[in-house]
Amino acid sequence: MKELSLHILDIVQNSIAAKATQIEIIICEDTQKNILSIDISDNGTGMDKATLQKVTDPFWTSRTTRKVGLGIPLFKAAAERCSGHFKIRSEAGEGTEIIAEFVRNHIDRAPMGDIAETISLLILTNEGIDFKYTYRFNGRTYELNTKKIKEVIGDMPIQHLDVIEWIKKDIRQGIEEITQE
Ligand SMILES: Nc1ncnc2c1ncn2[C@@H]1O[C@H](COP(=O)(O)OP(=O)(O)OP(=O)(O)O)[C@@H](O)[C@H]1O
Ligand SMILES: [Mg+2]
Repeated sequence: MKELSLHILDIVQNSIAAKATQIEIIICEDTQKNILSIDISDNGTGMDKATLQKVTDPFWTSRTTRKVGLGIPLFKAAAERCSGHFKIRSEAGEGTEIIAEFVRNHIDRAPMGDIAETISLLILTNEGIDFKYTYRFNGRTYELNTKKIKEVIGDMPIQHLDVIEWIKKDIRQGIEEITQE
């Protein structure tokens, strides 16, 4: 995959398939330490130990339509290709957390892509799920929490296109504000 936001979109599909009602995405950039990390966690069904051991193997999947599960192995490979790290923690009945860490300026590090588009699309298409998105850049933090937005908009559905547009703009603006020196 050419962009990290597409990996995120893909990994979140696993959380949705695992019936998560809360999904948290944390992106953290540190230019001094030269690290970019992506942390995706959910409160879905989780995995038992045997499944957890198999998930980084591209020839294993719990899906029945085709044999190969690629989401996790591709994300892992993307991190390892640029001297990064990859970690999964999962507990049956509790949820799952996936952390990928990249050397930020590595030549093979994929660009972030349009994260504002990705997050707003996830919110638009998953009515029953609450999303928390946090972006940290050199210690500064931007946060978006659909639970809080829902409190503010009251009767208006969060899927309303005006709300989705506002969310997209807020993420873009948030990124701009905390990344400028
Ligand atoms: N967040 C999660 N919660 C519960 N189980 C998960 C989660 N993420 C992955 N899994 C399990 O790990 C398997 C492998 O995931 P992976 O994304 O690599 O492949 P896939 O989803 O099966 O196929 P693909 O992503 O290629 O469509 C899934 O089929 C599922 O059983
Ligand atoms: Mg998948």
